[in-house]
Amino acid sequence: MKKQLGKERYFVEKLDLLYEGKAKQVFLTDDPDLLIVDYKDDATAFNGEKKGTIPGKGAVNNRMSNQFFRMLEKKGIPTHYVQELSDTETVVKKAEIIPLKVIIRNVAAGSFSKKLGIEEGFQLLEPTLEFSYKNDALGDPMINDYYAIAIGAAQRNEIERIEELAFQVNDILKEAFWNLGIRLIDFKIEFGRYKGQIILADEISSDTCRLWDMETDEKLYQDRFRHDLGEVEGAYQEVFRHLGL
Ligand code: TMP
Repeated sequence: MKKQLGKERYFVEKLDLLYEGKAKQVFLTDDPDLLIVDYKDDATAFNGEKKGTIPGKGAVNNRMSNQFFRMLEKKGIPTHYVQELSDTETVVKKAEIIPLKVIIRNVAAGSFSKKLGIEEGFQLLEPTLEFSYKNDALGDPMINDYYAIAIGAAQRNEIERIEELAFQVNDILKEAFWNLGIRLIDFKIEFGRYKGQIILADEISSDTCRLWDMETDEKLYQDRFRHDLGEVEGAYQEVFRHLGL
């Protein structure tokens, strides 16, 4: 079945499943430069150790991610986003994924607090960035830029571009969430190579951002699932309300 892409009257056909991850399926299309991502309702945390299904999560994350990608594109960040096809499906550019998770933190929380013995909620003196090497079997170990270059995950100029874009994304997202009454504590992003350029890929959603209510510091969405705080499904629906989706 061919799906129409926006006003351009461009059609793309969903072909074979290329890859199935924890939260999405990725399909080939009849255009070698494009893929279709289909978000699932499955939820995992702690590198897949905790699993569950949250009805409606796929649609929330798809639409949330697309909204952010469109906003970031407008502000000059190159992304893989092409077009939303349905509640859970999106056409994206077929980037060669760089096997690094890029984590930006504004406030101490999660593994950072645990590792360094710094209280959750401590406002970092400046935003920080860390890399982990995408490898499920090894539990995505934290590495630095020298490791990344030494193992051929990325070149020096690519690392520099990734860092520059990641901090720009942080500034844009922090402000966008702030305007919604939400503190962006930390988040994870991924990048890919596409036609000689580094572009933002993967997703930016309630699964990949740690968000706290600005007034109460209540943990929103992701932490609710991770730490059995209940009302997970409702919390995901809250994303829609908060973001005006
Ligand atoms: P952490 O405190 O568990 O290291 O997580 C930091 C942020 O990165 C948090 O917002 C969750 C996000 N993240 C992912 O989205 N995927 C991952 O695999 C990891 C380790 C973190």
